[in-house]
Amino acid sequence: MTQKNKKAQKLQQDIERQLATMKGTDGHPLLTDRDEGRVDVSWSPNRPRVIIDIGTHAPVAYQPLVAQLKKEGIDVVLTSARPPPQQVPQPKGSPPPERPKQTFDKIKLPNVRYRLAVTCAKGGVGKSTTAVNVALAFAARGLKVALLDADIYGPSLPLMMGLSGSLRKSPRGKIEPMYRYGVACMSIGLMLPQREDALIWRGPMVMGALQQMLRDVDWGERDILVIDMPPGTGDAQLTLAQRLDVSGAVIVSTPQDVALLDARKGFYMLKRTGIAVLGMVNNMSLFVCPHCGKETEIFGSDGTHQQAKELGIAVLADMPLSLTLRQSGDSGTPLVVSHPDSSEAQTYSRMADKLLTALEAQEKQKA
Ligand SMILES: Nc1ncnc2c1ncn2[C@@H]1O[C@H](COP(=O)(O)OP(=O)(O)OP(=O)(O)O)[C@@H](O)[C@H]1O
Ligand SMILES: [Mg+2]
Repeated sequence: MTQKNKKAQKLQQDIERQLATMKGTDGHPLLTDRDEGRVDVSWSPNRPRVIIDIGTHAPVAYQPLVAQLKKEGIDVVLTSARPPPQQVPQPKGSPPPERPKQTFDKIKLPNVRYRLAVTCAKGGVGKSTTAVNVALAFAARGLKVALLDADIYGPSLPLMMGLSGSLRKSPRGKIEPMYRYGVACMSIGLMLPQREDALIWRGPMVMGALQQMLRDVDWGERDILVIDMPPGTGDAQLTLAQRLDVSGAVIVSTPQDVALLDARKGFYMLKRTGIAVLGMVNNMSLFVCPHCGKETEIFGSDGTHQQAKELGIAVLADMPLSLTLRQSGDSGTPLVVSHPDSSEAQTYSRMADKLLTALEAQEKQKA
């Protein structure tokens, strides 16, 4: 486990411990033994970011912890896809009122042939890097590609694709996507006002923003839409997965145990929502020394392959830790564009081929 991952794990445990001692406005602890997976810590890109799923508690109960973490230079996002707590006082002894069951209509995009979700349960494993580069690999094949950043916690498409400026209306009165390297892009980061305080994502807000990005954007006719999904398996992610009419999903993971455990959780969440998992990406699988060429398996060997075998899915690509990949992604010129002949670009290209075959098979099966 790397130093960063050790630190992230420790921070997550500290926060969980602290939350277990804190009480909500209803007098119940903010976290109990049953609340597995409510706190997610990742490095993005070089400072910790904490995502806390607050469930039905009021956000105000978390403010002391949020203030403390922010003082320590840690980004905090509170999230919940559930409605805020009932404010109406109930007569003593009466059973809690039943919540109406939510039903979901899928948001359809009839003009987009294939819809691919890039997912992972753990933050910071290279999901956006994969989404961006594989989208560009599809575009390099002459396909009409769209790229949608649905990562409500940390939209990174503006940075990775070098997007800036304000959104414009299309001639058809819809929102015009931003075009970069021939790809139609839209990010939740371009649609939201910048806020200093922790953002609380309630279900209707998430759905409203997502719906707007899918329905109100003038995507035109597209061969493929690549969707960068938010990390985690909480309510917000589940709602997103339930609403999207995707052809299939790919899970990005690094080979270390913590990430693989989360990848497994992600796999079962996708299964529950009926989304076909097309395969895994074994990201940062190997470190190749730029000086002597020696290969080192920093996160252990074969973990992703073993996990994929157990889950009965394919590993679509082994992507090594690459300095060029990181530098190009963080500077707004993704590797597939900046180094099209590199071995990394070729790996993305082969992955795009495998995905196209799998997506075609999925859509045929649906028809
Ligand atoms: N194979 C790789 N080699 C080197 N750096 C990588 C690799 N994959 C991703 N990175 C770098 O790791 C960091 C995190 O990657 P990325 O933003 O794609 O992850 P993510 O899963 O989308 O994270 P988040 O959960 O924060 O959205 C970025 O700085 C990216 O450039
Ligand atoms: Mg990301």
